[in-house]
Amino acid sequence: MKKTVAIIGSSGAIGNAVSENLLNDDSIGIVYKFSRSNHGEENNKVKNIFIDIEDEKSILSSLEQIPSDTKFDLVFVATGILHNDKEIFPEKSIKDIDIEKLKKVILVNTIGPTLIGKYFIPYLKKDNKSVFAFLSARVGSISDNNLGGWYSYRASKTALNQIIKNFSIEVRRTNKEAIFIGLQPGTVKSFLSKPFEKNIKPGNLFTPEYSAEKMLQVINGLHPDDSGKIFAWNGEEIQP
Ligand SMILES: NC(=O)c1ccc[n+]([C@@H]2O[C@H](COP(=O)([O-])OP(=O)(O)OC[C@H]3O[C@@H](n4cnc5c(N)ncnc54)[C@H](OP(=O)(O)O)[C@@H]3O)[C@@H](O)[C@H]2O)c1
Repeated sequence: MKKTVAIIGSSGAIGNAVSENLLNDDSIGIVYKFSRSNHGEENNKVKNIFIDIEDEKSILSSLEQIPSDTKFDLVFVATGILHNDKEIFPEKSIKDIDIEKLKKVILVNTIGPTLIGKYFIPYLKKDNKSVFAFLSARVGSISDNNLGGWYSYRASKTALNQIIKNFSIEVRRTNKEAIFIGLQPGTVKSFLSKPFEKNIKPGNLFTPEYSAEKMLQVINGLHPDDSGKIFAWNGEEIQP
């Protein structure tokens, strides 16, 4: 039977590359692309659905647009914010900490994905392997934090990693086939990474297509014991 997948944040560089990769995969029957701003072509393999992950009602109404008996083999959450090209920028120092910016980054990077979990988990397939993957970041690892800075982004991803672990523990009781993971996509060319591109060594800035291909390989190789863990694009496990 062909697989059913959902990409949340399909308008982003990585979300779009993951969507395109899956659209070209013959084992996939339908790709549901959820985003705020993606209004691409639709056919019997691809459906575009509006979602604003900062709005719980929008998450609920997005699910009203898929058949109620849908069972996902893969839910891939590719949303996220590091800066907005305006007032939000990663904090270099304590003096840069600002309540509104903190709230926004944690809303998009932690609370939104948590609500996606809340409402999409009931749609996960139970009779064979299903994967719920969230794009996280290496800087969310506390043991890997040697540089400091980036208060809101780091903390939002650390908290997301904890939520992923919690989902894995609770859902294991009712769905032994479901695997929850965080993924570190590498440093990938996108709106999000643009201000930092110049600091990346040549060859270390991935195309979204390469990162998507590698992360989908990681997903294909997952076992139930991997649930709750964070993996890099090359399959390396990232310690909390
Ligand atoms: N690029 C990297 O080097 C890198 C490294 C480590 C981790 N990551 C993680 O990878 C993820 C994707 O990043 P990217 O590089 O692909 O960045 P991107 O191109 O800027 O994509 C970000 C996506 O998030 C979506 N989004 C933001 N707020 C949203 C909201 N309220 N509702 C719905 N969608 C929302 C954006 O949608 P709109 O188009 O509607 O704004 C866009 O689709 C992020 O979680 C990021 O932390 C990236």
